[in-house]
Amino acid sequence: MIIVMLGAPGAGKGTQAAMICDKYDIPHVSTGDIFRANIKNGTELGKKAKAFMDEGKLVPDELTIELLLDRVSQDDCAKGYVLDGFPRTIPQAEVLTNALAKAGEKVDFAINVDVPDENIIKRMSGRRSCPKCGASYHVEFVPPKKEGICDVCGSELIQREDDKPETVKNRLSVYHDQTQPLIEYYEKAGALQAVDGTKDKDEVFADIVSILG
Ligand code: AP5
Ligand code: MG
Repeated sequence: MIIVMLGAPGAGKGTQAAMICDKYDIPHVSTGDIFRANIKNGTELGKKAKAFMDEGKLVPDELTIELLLDRVSQDDCAKGYVLDGFPRTIPQAEVLTNALAKAGEKVDFAINVDVPDENIIKRMSGRRSCPKCGASYHVEFVPPKKEGICDVCGSELIQREDDKPETVKNRLSVYHDQTQPLIEYYEKAGALQAVDGTKDKDEVFADIVSILG
C-alpha cells in the first residue's frame, strides 16, 4: 500500500501519517523530517536545504527527488509506505509515478487533508515537535501527556524554526502555487480521497481508516 499525504503546511499530514504507519505497520517517509535530521547532523545536504526551509521555500527538486527515491528503495519500504511532504511539485509527482510504474506499482491513495488557511496560522504557532522522532503536538489541540516532553520517546519538544508567522505565510503561498495542483493530478490518476482536516485528530483518522479499509 503506497499512500501520499496531501495538504497545506500544518494541515495534519505528519500527525495522520504517524497514526496510519502505526496501525498498518509501514514506514513514515517525511522529506521534511529527513531534511531536518540532515540539518541537525550538519550534513552538506542539511546546509543547502536549511537556506530554503528557513524562508519557507521549497528545497529544489534536484536535491529532493534522488533522496526520496533512494529512501523508498530500502528494504523496509517493500510492503508499502506513507509519503508525507512528497511529492510537492508536479515534476516530483511525475518522477514518482514513473519510478513506481517501472516496478509495476502506483500510488494507491492520495489523501488530501483539507484545512482552510484561516486555521493554519493558529495550528503552526502552537505546534511543538519532537527533534528525535518527529512526533507533532499542539499546546492546545494535541497536548503531550507531560508538558514539553514527547509521549513517544521522552525527548524535550521544540518549536520548529519555520513556524514563525512570516515564514508560515510564505509556506502557504508556495503551497497554493506549487503543491495544490497535485490535488487535480491525483484526481485524474483516480487515487484522490479527501478528508475534512478541521475535525479532531482522532475523527480525521477514523475517516482515513474507513477509506483505507
Ligand atoms: P514539511 O516538514 O513537510 O512541512 P509542511 O508540509 O509545511 O507541513 P508541516 O509539517 O508543517 O505540517 P503537517 O501537515 O505535517 O501538520 P502536523 O501534523 O505537524 O516541510 C518543511 C519544509 O521542508 C518545506 O517548507 C520545504 O522547504 C522542505 N521540503 C519538505 N519536503 C519537500 C519536498 N518534497 N520538496 C521540496 N521541499 C520540501 O500538524 C500541525 C499542527 O496542528 C500540530 O501542532 C498538530 O499537533 C496540530 N494538529 C494536527 N491535527 C490536528 C487536528 N485534527 N486538530 C487540531 N490540531 C491538529
Ligand atoms: Mg509535517
